[in-house]
Amino acid sequence: MPITSGIPTLKFSRSRRRERLGKESNAAPKGASDFEEFAVSLKRYPDTKPEFAVSLKRYPDTKPEFSAVRETFMPVAIRSARLNDVPAILAIEQQALAAAHWTSEQYNKLVSGGTVLLAEEAGQLCGFVCAQAVAGEWEIENVVVAAGFLRRGIASELVRELMRRAENEAASAILLEVRESNLPARGLYEKHGFREVGRRRGYYRDPVEDAILYALRFDR
Ligand SMILES: CC(C)(COP(=O)(O)OP(=O)(O)OC[C@H]1O[C@@H](n2cnc3c(N)ncnc32)[C@H](O)[C@@H]1OP(=O)(O)O)[C@@H](O)C(=O)NCCC(=O)NCCS
Repeated sequence: MPITSGIPTLKFSRSRRRERLGKESNAAPKGASDFEEFAVSLKRYPDTKPEFAVSLKRYPDTKPEFSAVRETFMPVAIRSARLNDVPAILAIEQQALAAAHWTSEQYNKLVSGGTVLLAEEAGQLCGFVCAQAVAGEWEIENVVVAAGFLRRGIASELVRELMRRAENEAASAILLEVRESNLPARGLYEKHGFREVGRRRGYYRDPVEDAILYALRFDR
């Protein structure tokens, strides 16, 4: 039974419940046929990991039993960007302070000559990654997920698809640089096998900060 409270959508996950509680917690007591079922509504604050929620089932004259439910989302579709996507790309990039900031001309160039992948949910742009290849080495120029969509694995999906494409096109490596303090982005890259390979001291301005260089090398 799905419980909907705008976005995200919640629904029962029986296997999860069993896994977490280790028993059939909402089995009907002997002889019980009726039960009252109600949902707890949830709030998810931006930039937090989805939390588990509970739904409750109560048989008359029994203690309420709990079952875990899992937050689920509509599937995100990944596709290559077209030139007319650039204004929407810029709109989410400009709202992400930690992102690299590029002009629309630079994005136009990347769409035409590099790789720009978009993540869309129900037709709405929720994130993108862009890269360009130089002599068999791909460089990630930016990856951004819009504020309302963070911590749902969207950047991971984008990076995975980019890695797949780079590998298919016989890239030798994917490289990138990131502000030392940008722990979400560093966590993202490290999760996908990128390794720290260097540092550029004082590379960034406003504020001045080192760049950490990462590389993912493809074994051939
Ligand atoms: C970095 C960014 C793209 C991650 O997007 P996202 O869709 O929320 O990331 P995912 O949900 O796919 O998370 C993948 C991994 O990234 C890391 N991560 C993401 N957000 C994090 C956070 N707020 N704190 C710590 N680690 C984080 C985690 O390792 C996470 O894996 P886990 O969920 O198993 O812990 C997003 O935070 C963003 O748009 N930031 C602003 C733009 C930016 O800084 N881009 C990088 C430019 S180089």
